[in-house]
Amino acid sequence: MIDIRKDPRFKGIEPFAGRLWLSSPTMHGDEQRWVDDAILTNWVSTVGRNIDEVENQIAEYVGVKYAVGLGAGTAALHLATKLAGERLYGQALPNEGTLAGKRVFCSDVTFDASVNPVAYEDGEAVYIDTERETWNMDPAALEKAFEMYPDTRLIVLAHLYGTPGKMEEILRIAKEHDALIIEDAAESLGARYKLGGKWVETGALGDYNCISFNGNKIITGSSGGMFLTDSKEDADKVRKWSTQSREAAPWYQHEEIGYNYRMSNIIAGVVRGQIPYLDDHIAQKKAIYERYREGLKDLPVSMNPFDAKKSEPNYWLSCMLIDEKAMARHIRGERDEMWDTEPGKSSPGEILAALAAFRAEGRPIWKPMHMQPIYRTHKFVTTEGNGRGKSNAYIAGSGIDVGADLFRRGLCLPSDNKMTAGQQDKVIEIIHRCFL
Ligand SMILES: Cc1ncc(COP(=O)(O)O)c(C=O)c1O
Repeated sequence: MIDIRKDPRFKGIEPFAGRLWLSSPTMHGDEQRWVDDAILTNWVSTVGRNIDEVENQIAEYVGVKYAVGLGAGTAALHLATKLAGERLYGQALPNEGTLAGKRVFCSDVTFDASVNPVAYEDGEAVYIDTERETWNMDPAALEKAFEMYPDTRLIVLAHLYGTPGKMEEILRIAKEHDALIIEDAAESLGARYKLGGKWVETGALGDYNCISFNGNKIITGSSGGMFLTDSKEDADKVRKWSTQSREAAPWYQHEEIGYNYRMSNIIAGVVRGQIPYLDDHIAQKKAIYERYREGLKDLPVSMNPFDAKKSEPNYWLSCMLIDEKAMARHIRGERDEMWDTEPGKSSPGEILAALAAFRAEGRPIWKPMHMQPIYRTHKFVTTEGNGRGKSNAYIAGSGIDVGADLFRRGLCLPSDNKMTAGQQDKVIEIIHRCFL
């Protein structure tokens, strides 16, 4: 370990005056107007003009018939998972999840909110390894998973960092196996995918679709999320479940388990103020991605990839991957890490520590779900089949585990859309110095 600030490699670089963020909220002023409107009209609860407006505007933007405003993307994912569970396996007892005893194929390199709802519904997540072209669920590993567990009928798929996954292949595989797809577009609002020659927004590609307005997302409500669908029945069900499953009776009457998951009209006011800036934010994030790509091209690293013919990311986070040959030693435990400095090489640990020392926030690649202590006993499927227990004292095993490799060699770069070109150039310079 080194004290980066005393390291002669960084001589002449001054820390940033204020902190540079990974991805922070960007308010424009219009948000205040709609929040004020909610307060001045006294519509501050879970009904009101802001909610109606944002549901209509997002449904139109994404190209779905219905959007239901909720308190968080996680709430949308939970209710989407429950809807899928009911459709596949019927209504569960009040004290049981709809996926009890059932397997669900899930993205592995994602934020845990994508997959926790499978556990909320008593299902068993089976993690599917990642491909290298978009860093999303590998269709070849998904095929393997269906060979191994042919009864599985549900897939939870996220578009990592705003880059659409290989949807054409995944939709084909899902159809072949009569499986439903929950699309987690929390990170990818505004990203598009070309399907059958037509551009389709992420959030309109699955059977059940979810987005997030968390503070770090491409647009934010400070919090909030949405369930997106073309099914009126599903939209109505989510509205009902999200408001404690009240029946149409004069008293509180309940025939189903309910949740307090609805979006408030104040949060919706913030979202309403943000929607007009969604495309600007995407353009800013794209410029950041391209500046990194240009500025880092002389280093032994690559950027998070995407399929330029079939997709247009929203560029939410810019990431980089260090070439294997340029990886300095970097050891991670469960909570701590250590790295060495080696000339001509670096590691995510060293680069993130250097950035932090200069007051810039990066982050490791999301640690794969199959490596998380909570899910370590869950199945993990790679292109070769079972990804666990492949080796023993006598057999080395192939070691295929793309997610673990991305986590080991990759990192998320400061991607805040308020970062100036000058500030970004300094980040690029700091990264260069790490390789000296
Ligand atoms: C991929 C992914 N899914 C789900 C979520 C959860 O969204 P929320 O924070 O709005 O609950 C997030 C981020 O927060 C996310 O990055």
